[in-house]
Amino acid sequence: MPKQLITPWDFRLGNVDYSYIIKQFGLEPADDELISRIKDPHRLFKRKLIFAHRDFDRILEAQERGEEFVVVTGMMPSGRFHFGHKLIAELLAWYQRQGVKLYIAVSDIEACIVRGLDARECRRITFEEYVLNYLALGVDLLNTKKCCIYSQWKNYHVRDFALMASSKITLSHVQAMYGLESSSNVGKIFFPFIQVADILHPELPELGGPKPVLVPVGVDQDVHIRLARDIAPKFEMIRPSSIYIKMMCGLQGPGTKMSSSKPESAVFLSDLPEEAGKKIKNAFTGGRMTAKEQRKLGGQPDQCVPYMFLLFHFGDKILKKTFDECTSGTVLCGECKARIAEEVRRFLKEHQFKMEKARNLLPKVEELQPLL
Ligand code: TRP
Ligand code: SF4
Repeated sequence: MPKQLITPWDFRLGNVDYSYIIKQFGLEPADDELISRIKDPHRLFKRKLIFAHRDFDRILEAQERGEEFVVVTGMMPSGRFHFGHKLIAELLAWYQRQGVKLYIAVSDIEACIVRGLDARECRRITFEEYVLNYLALGVDLLNTKKCCIYSQWKNYHVRDFALMASSKITLSHVQAMYGLESSSNVGKIFFPFIQVADILHPELPELGGPKPVLVPVGVDQDVHIRLARDIAPKFEMIRPSSIYIKMMCGLQGPGTKMSSSKPESAVFLSDLPEEAGKKIKNAFTGGRMTAKEQRKLGGQPDQCVPYMFLLFHFGDKILKKTFDECTSGTVLCGECKARIAEEVRRFLKEHQFKMEKARNLLPKVEELQPLL
């Protein structure tokens, strides 16, 4: 395998070649045939923003036969909630509405031992950023039959299973997968087993035994998925399935990264709507050098950050209109960006109203989710 471009801890979005990623990582493409098996597919499927998978057939089969499966995800409570995080939350809400149980790991062991973040600050971020946004985006954290959200520190199933799992894997196996250097702290070497345990613990006998597990992730997390898939059969568990979501780039354009801790790199769901609108207007576009050239050649939506927001987050109508007007050169970037900024402002106003309403639920979430 060539030297990995994409690792969990230093991911950069270039002008990404998805078929190359599929080949390099050994994924299956999410093709039309696969998507046609999904009833009323989420826009992330319809728009091919979920571009690849491992064993997603198993999830579709379970769904077709009315058999149980669960969805597992995790989030590092290291900063503010942005439009990239929103995609996963929406997908979770979509599955939960279909009766699927969610397991949501707050990756606070990772934040602490890999990133060296302060535990109390992580806890504040968990509630203020993640819990409020999840609730506002329709994830029902109060429905304990269909959702378990937990801190890794508090979930003894996860911690115990991480230890058990680590006893089945050699150091050279971990080294080959993660390319760790001998100067890495041992916590960083051990952490993958915690994430593996997040993914596999719903299959423990105490939690009902083997069942299909689906993990929606960015491809930067694939190495953890592979490790979980190596470990599952050693415990007579079913190998987890995964789907891979394309990652939005940063506001500075292709090749830049949205970062929770860099305000100028992303639009956050708690940005003041006005401020968010300004970020969109200042973002990198696929416009041409001059107005004349743009009228003649049209713009390049595939290079354009405001367009990317429409593609990932907004309705078909404005998406199509923008694409047509951009590529035919009938609209110039200034006017077009103002329109997209307005869309983002409108969404945020409504969303932040929901977040404020969700605040009243925080004590209830703490009461009903004892592992959080
Ligand atoms: N490592 C992931 C991140 O950096 C978070 C995470 C923890 C996770 N446990 C998980 C993701 C389980 C998917 C499944 O965001
Ligand atoms: Fe982007 Fe709109 Fe400019 Fe096209 S016209 S490049 S979609 S801002």
